[in-house]
Amino acid sequence: MPAVKTVYLCQQCGASSPKWAGQCAACGAWNTLVETVAAPRPAAGRAPSARAMAGLSAVTPIASVTSAEAERTSSGIGEVDRVLGGGFVPGSIILIGGDPGIGKSTLLLQLAARVATAGGTALYITGEESTAQIRGRAERIGAVVDGLNLAATTELETALAAIESAAPALAVVDSVQTLTSPELSGPAGSVGQVREVAARLAEVAKAGRTCVALVGHVTKEGTVAGPRTLEHLVDAVIYLEGERLGSTRLLRAAKNRFGSTDEVGVLEMRGDGLAEVDDASRFFLESEEAPTAGSAITIALEGTRPLAVEIQALSALASYGSPRRATTGIDTNRVHMLVAVLARHAGLNLSGHDVYVNVAGGLRIDEPAADLAIAVALASSLRERPVQLGTVLAGEVALSGRLRAAVRAERRMLEASRLGFDRLVTGTMRGEGAAPRAGGLVVARDIREALEATLER
Ligand code: TYD
Ligand code: MG
Repeated sequence: MPAVKTVYLCQQCGASSPKWAGQCAACGAWNTLVETVAAPRPAAGRAPSARAMAGLSAVTPIASVTSAEAERTSSGIGEVDRVLGGGFVPGSIILIGGDPGIGKSTLLLQLAARVATAGGTALYITGEESTAQIRGRAERIGAVVDGLNLAATTELETALAAIESAAPALAVVDSVQTLTSPELSGPAGSVGQVREVAARLAEVAKAGRTCVALVGHVTKEGTVAGPRTLEHLVDAVIYLEGERLGSTRLLRAAKNRFGSTDEVGVLEMRGDGLAEVDDASRFFLESEEAPTAGSAITIALEGTRPLAVEIQALSALASYGSPRRATTGIDTNRVHMLVAVLARHAGLNLSGHDVYVNVAGGLRIDEPAADLAIAVALASSLRERPVQLGTVLAGEVALSGRLRAAVRAERRMLEASRLGFDRLVTGTMRGEGAAPRAGGLVVARDIREALEATLER
């Protein structure tokens, strides 16, 4: 009997190695290599040569090819369409990743129901829950509709056959980690299996007009199992994010062959599923009341989309030891840096204070233009002086204390006025002096000037 051929697959990066090793040679992770039996795939399964045998050429004049743009299937939720780039593309495969419990199954079931209601058919393949459980959720979110079919299976072959025979407009596979191929001996969810499952589903998607949506759980390390191997197999990777206890959910594209990766969708988890919010830009403002000390509003750009976001800071005398710096929604190192800049260039000493900084509404902000609002919120809390009514901030703070204008400051100002703010305090552009600009833009040269222009007396 021939020896069984095995390879060792890194569960983190998907690299294969013929021998076991404690550390993956490709990504350096420890104890991630898992032995996987690689059975040769039956030749028939790989029969792309049918076309070749029939003498057909793979070459087509570009003018006779229909563009994917022309025929998207709307997901039925505007915020989702925005992130997809206009809707589901027939014959494509996308991956929806996110933490367990964040709402992936809920969202996909809603989308499947909307596609079915709009006249397409949808197939929801579940490897995690029973059809009865899915039906229970569907009742809660109004997804019991004609044209939506369920299949409960953990076998890849069964899932493939179901998609091929039903040829739905949308097929959801929940989740990619629960299906297994009998051709591989690795357990469900291992890199080898996940890759094989995705590759085979991609083949089926591309062969027909179904858009296959794979649900993928994100591991503790923040990656969908074997992310690098999955990402190139799929057309789009979209993450559903949010604080589990909060209700805000953001959809973000990490890769999108059919659209921009700059768009973000804002959704809210309600009792009847995920819903679009009325005015996403206003959504992250905690209150409409008069400003309080420790709160500053910035207009963040999520991709091309301006969102008004409240930054909340609290400084309190530290009781003992080194003071705490805790943040939610922004990088703690950025806060350390801004605390140092405030001490050095604005005479605000926070070294004896605990400092807490929050982004309201569960949003995460990475852009440097949020610096100014964070610094102002900190100063406002320490001095117990609120930010002047009608003022928002967007600018980058340098270590020298100088302020740089936020990119696309005019676009942000436009949004600020739409939301009822009178002025946006920002920094200087390269080579520009501190002259007030049109339309409510106020330019400050450094952090001290910005505080003077911003805080109430
Ligand atoms: P789920 O879609 O099962 O998450 P995932 O598939 O990403 O693991 O959703 C899990 C949470 O969502 C669950 O804790 C309950 C909550 N939820 C709502 O708040 N409203 C709803 O209408 C539904 C269906 C779920
Ligand atoms: Mg789920």
